[in-house]
Amino acid sequence: MEKDRSSHVLFFPVPTQGHMNPMIKLAELLALTGFRITYLNTHHNHERLIKFTNIAAHYERYPGFEFKTITDGLPPDHPRSGHWFMEMYEEATEMKIKQGLREMLVNISPPVDCMIVDVFLVFALDVAGELGIPIVCFRTSSPCCFWTSYSIPAMIQAGELPIEDMDRLITTVPGMETHFRCRDLPSYCRAADMEDTFIKLVVNRTLKSVQANALILNTAEELEGPILSQIRTQCPNVYAIGPINALLKSRVDAKHGESYHHFSNTLLEENKSCISWLDKQPNRSVTYACFGSITSMSREQLIELWYGLVNSKSKFLLVVRPNSVIGKDGEEEDVVKELFDKAKDQGYIVDWAPQEAVLNHPAVGSFLTHSGWNSTLEVVVAGVPMICWPYFADQQVNNRVVSEVWKIGLEMKDVCDRKILEKMVKEVMVDRKEEFAKSAAEMAKLADQSVSVGGSSYSNLDRLIEDIKEMSL
Ligand code: UDX
Repeated sequence: MEKDRSSHVLFFPVPTQGHMNPMIKLAELLALTGFRITYLNTHHNHERLIKFTNIAAHYERYPGFEFKTITDGLPPDHPRSGHWFMEMYEEATEMKIKQGLREMLVNISPPVDCMIVDVFLVFALDVAGELGIPIVCFRTSSPCCFWTSYSIPAMIQAGELPIEDMDRLITTVPGMETHFRCRDLPSYCRAADMEDTFIKLVVNRTLKSVQANALILNTAEELEGPILSQIRTQCPNVYAIGPINALLKSRVDAKHGESYHHFSNTLLEENKSCISWLDKQPNRSVTYACFGSITSMSREQLIELWYGLVNSKSKFLLVVRPNSVIGKDGEEEDVVKELFDKAKDQGYIVDWAPQEAVLNHPAVGSFLTHSGWNSTLEVVVAGVPMICWPYFADQQVNNRVVSEVWKIGLEMKDVCDRKILEKMVKEVMVDRKEEFAKSAAEMAKLADQSVSVGGSSYSNLDRLIEDIKEMSL
């Protein structure tokens, strides 16, 4: 018998910007079709969302959209900077979060019909199993990262890991034999010891997410059909619903018209002065340089980066996040100020940007990026070519997709050299400008097709919606 209420879905993301952004966009997509949503924020993130955004006004438009808060298992005075979220994966901390989750699920009304859970919080599978709640896993990083992580045991067995020669093509990951070298595997595959705690954690969580039997990926058939086919050999029920920022925009525009305000779920204060600066620059003249929400760099790296940009003669907009330059407290402020004073006419620096607005600004001609998966998809949608400077995790593999599979950018992997950067910026902004602009525009078109009526991501979202309704019966 059908229930006389709408399906109630609970979202449980890893509480970092890169994991939260796609999750909350999916929550909004489901709210748009009338689902009741409970979105679980950690206390810490919820405070920041309230401080830096107008969440109440935005989500109030969806009757039944509710935020609830949960512990991240760490003490209130924990600094939560850098890779702090790794501490959430420790057993004792997980136990605290698990207990908080269980209590919430037991007491919540109406009861939760389905949980959408970040792959890195798969301990929620145990709670869901115990309470009989169906679960769908969401892997917010790239499909190639998922697939290589899934293949780690096979790579170890074949003697392909630990890595002996960084430049050797990998052979044991089906579908990735032609373009991917050992150097392009996710950074944790570089460990010398395959008993490394993080490798074991990634493998365990990847395999467990496959057991959940329903996996959401932020990509599209039109962008990554071949790798999705490989993943489906092991995990048949994949919902590829990306690029999720574009899918949300497409559905919101269809329902409310294009003037509807698109919302940023930022956890830091956006410095919007960079948009006024971009307004004064010629079309496609600016290189936007930004490295996501958790990377950090040394003072030396920042200086190489700065001179690479300055010597390229390209105008540039650089984001240097608070506390992202390794060194003494506050030291980066002095370095940044010193550098800024040297090239005021050419560059502009902010500590956090409204990234999607920047990428879609006509003045932006290239994106120097760490290749985080959200940043990658956001720039694909915007149709801007990339220069990739990956740091860790999935970024190594993402950047190979950009440079060798999609051919919409260059990669600067495992080097930090102002001359190389200068050359690459010139190549993308001057020497091969039209070639890259053309290929980036073609990719943007494919992304747009995927989220438009009849496109694969559009249809896959409808399938997900119907399947969740079925789970709720
Ligand atoms: C991390 C991993 O690095 C990434 O590879 C993984 O896929 C998700 O988790 P992060 O490093 O923060 O994420 O990068 P990314 O995935 O690009 O996400 C950053 C998000 O912050 C993007 O949505 C971006 O638009 C936003 N952002 C970043 C801003 O809004 N302003 C900024 O100044 C910088």
